[in-house]
Amino acid sequence: MAPEARRAVVASRVALVLIPILVLLMAGQLVRVAEALSIGVNYGQIANNLPSPARVSWLLRSLKISKVKLFDADPHVLRAFLGTGVEFVVGIGNEAVPAMVSPAAAQAWLQSHVVPHLGAGARITCITVGNEVFKGNDTVLQASLLPAMRSVHQALGTLGLQGRVNVTTAHSLDIMGVSYPPSAGAFHPTAVPHVQPFLSFLSATRAPFLINCYPYFAYKDDPARVPLEYVLFQPNAGVADPHTRLTYDNMLYAQVDAVYAAIQALGHADIDVKISETGWPSRGDPHEAGATPENAGTYIRNLLQRIEMKQGTPLRPQVPIDVYVFALFNENLKPGPASERNYGLFYPDGTPVYNVGLRGYLPPMASHAGLHQTIHLFALTAIASVAFALS
Ligand SMILES: *[C@@H]1O[C@H](CO)[C@@H](O)[C@H](O)[C@H]1NC(C)=O
Ligand SMILES: *[C@@H]1O[C@H](CO)[C@@H](O)[C@H](O)[C@H]1NC(C)=O
Repeated sequence: MAPEARRAVVASRVALVLIPILVLLMAGQLVRVAEALSIGVNYGQIANNLPSPARVSWLLRSLKISKVKLFDADPHVLRAFLGTGVEFVVGIGNEAVPAMVSPAAAQAWLQSHVVPHLGAGARITCITVGNEVFKGNDTVLQASLLPAMRSVHQALGTLGLQGRVNVTTAHSLDIMGVSYPPSAGAFHPTAVPHVQPFLSFLSATRAPFLINCYPYFAYKDDPARVPLEYVLFQPNAGVADPHTRLTYDNMLYAQVDAVYAAIQALGHADIDVKISETGWPSRGDPHEAGATPENAGTYIRNLLQRIEMKQGTPLRPQVPIDVYVFALFNENLKPGPASERNYGLFYPDGTPVYNVGLRGYLPPMASHAGLHQTIHLFALTAIASVAFALS
C-alpha cells in the first residue's frame, strides 16, 4: 500500500476507535447534567443491613439523584460522596439541640461536622437543627430550638460561611392547628409563640420553612372518608377551597398551601416552603390501611411526575415543589408499627421495592477492586484497539 493510502487507513481506524470512546465519555457528562433528577431523598440509616456509603453513592449516581438529606452529618457518607456534586442537607439531632444554644458549642459542632467537608469540596447547602421538635412535648427542646438556630447561624458567619449554608429545622405537620381548607391554615395555638420569632429568623436569614407531609397518615386514619385517588395524585374531582376558589387535586398540595397560609397569617409572604419528607409505606400492620407496594408505587410515581413538570401548588404556581422523598432504604431497626420499617424506595440489596422507573446500580461489595479492574480492562482494551489501528 502506498504510504499516503496507508496513513489515511490508519487515521480512519484511529478515528473509528477514538470517536466512540470520546462520545461515550461526553455522553456521560451530558446525561449527568441534563437528566439529574430534581428530586431529593432522605438517606436514613436506622438499620443494620445497609450497603456502605461508597456503594450508596454509586446507586444514587446511577439514579441521577443529586440531592440527599441526612438526619445527622455522617462523615462516612459525606466523604463517600466527595466529587459527585450531590448536594446535602445535614442535621443536628434533637438530643444535641439544647447544647447548641451555646455559641461556642455551635461553632465546635460546625468545625468538626461541616467545615472539613466543605473544605474538601462537599456541597452542604442546609443544616436542619432538630427534627419535628414541636411534635412531642419536650419543652426544654422546644425552647432551645430558636436560640440554637441563632447560634449555628452566627457561628457560620464567624467561620466565613454566611450565605453558603441555610439554617432551619424540619417540622411535623402536627405543628398545624388548622389545615383545611388550605386558605384557613393556622399553626397550633401552643406553637404560635415559638413559630412567630422562628419565622422572623427564617425571613431575616432567607432560609426555607421545611415541613414533613404524609397524606398517607390522613388516609390511614380515615380510609372510609379520605378518597385514595385524592391522596395518590390520581384523577379525581378535586376539592375546592371556598375562600380562594382554588381547586386541589391532591392532598399534598393542600397541606403545603395550608402551611403557606399559616405563615402568611403571621405576617410573612417571603418564606419558601419545602417538603423535607414525604412518602408512602409499602407494607404495614393489619390495621395500617393502604400500606401496599401498589399504593406506594403509585404515590411515588405520580409525585415524581409532578416534580418533573416543575409544578407549583395552587397558591404558589410559580414555585416548583421542592421534595425530599422518605426514604432511600427500608430501615429494619426503626421502632413503631411495621409501616415505619417499610418506607424505602429500595431494599438494602439495592433492588427496588416497587417499580417507578428508578432502576439503579448498586455495585457488589468490595466494589473498589471490581471497579478498578473494570476501568483497567477498559483502558487496556482502548490502548489495544489504538495499537491495532496503528499497526
Ligand atoms: C408528654 O409528657 C408526658 C409527661 O412528661 C408524657 O407522659 C407524655 O407521653 C408526653 N406526650 C407526648 C406526646 O410526648
Ligand atoms: C437557602 O434557602 C433559600 C430559600 O429557599 C434558597 O433560595 C437558597 O438557594 C438556599 N441557599 C442555599 C445555599 O441552598
